[in-house]
Amino acid sequence: MHTVQSIAALQSVIKEARDQQQGIGFVPTMGNLHQGHLNLVNAAKAQCDFVVVSIYVNPLQFGANEDLDKYPRTLADDQAKLEALGVDALFTPDTAVIYPEGLAAHSKVTVPKLGDFHCGATRPGHFDGVTTIVNKLLNIVQADIAVFGEKDFQQLAIIKKMVNDLCMPTHIVSVPTTRADDGLALSSRNQYLDAQQRATAPLIYQTLKACQQSLQTTQELTPSALEQLRTESCEQLQAAGFMVDYLNIVDAISLQPLRPETQSIVVLLAAYLGNTRLIDNICFNRQIGFNR
Ligand code: PAF
Repeated sequence: MHTVQSIAALQSVIKEARDQQQGIGFVPTMGNLHQGHLNLVNAAKAQCDFVVVSIYVNPLQFGANEDLDKYPRTLADDQAKLEALGVDALFTPDTAVIYPEGLAAHSKVTVPKLGDFHCGATRPGHFDGVTTIVNKLLNIVQADIAVFGEKDFQQLAIIKKMVNDLCMPTHIVSVPTTRADDGLALSSRNQYLDAQQRATAPLIYQTLKACQQSLQTTQELTPSALEQLRTESCEQLQAAGFMVDYLNIVDAISLQPLRPETQSIVVLLAAYLGNTRLIDNICFNRQIGFNR
């Protein structure tokens, strides 16, 4: 595995693979790799001859009071995991490479509307940070495919829109969320949880599954029925010790409130356990009519 820090060195190893007609797959990450990330890498390997992974904790997508400084950095472990999977190139730039004139002076990429709600409402600027770094990385790597996890459902929708709007040549592939045996979505932030919080955390997925069950069986899917489901789900989480940031039942394409023509529903959830913010979602096709 080539481990490189500069854009020129990365592009040089990718060019060699391209010259040999190899298909290029790319998995951008912030490191501290768990099985969820490794499943993204495996999806890239299944479709491409040459797989590039990046590890970069992007300061532009962290708010002032967020966990940028304590975000776990485990490069040696990550390198060993990627090497074992047969990754071809690992890009580990530092901030001087990515934002050479500083964060404020760097051009930004904004995807309107899709980022205004849900996580975007409580993390202002977060998605502009994500789209700016993902745009830059996709331009550097020029991969055939780039692989993202469905756990970050809103991020995935925004990246797909950016790639489509800007006619970027890379095809975006998504991979279902990887879960622990008890249903908790794998996340680097799970390690911030103490034992008691870790035991409580699977209630997030249980709540999402209960919402799905209810949405698929409720005859009259009216706004008041939706609001009642939302309120009861939040109350259940709060009673268990969560501070719910949002629980929103929306159209899976527009991420806006359900409409009669909605084909696919997503329940998006973000909640704090102590200081740790966890997100998850469940997405399914609508099986009954939606009545206003
Ligand atoms: O999902 C992540 O880990 C990050 O948001 C990403 C896509 C690597 C951009 O920094």
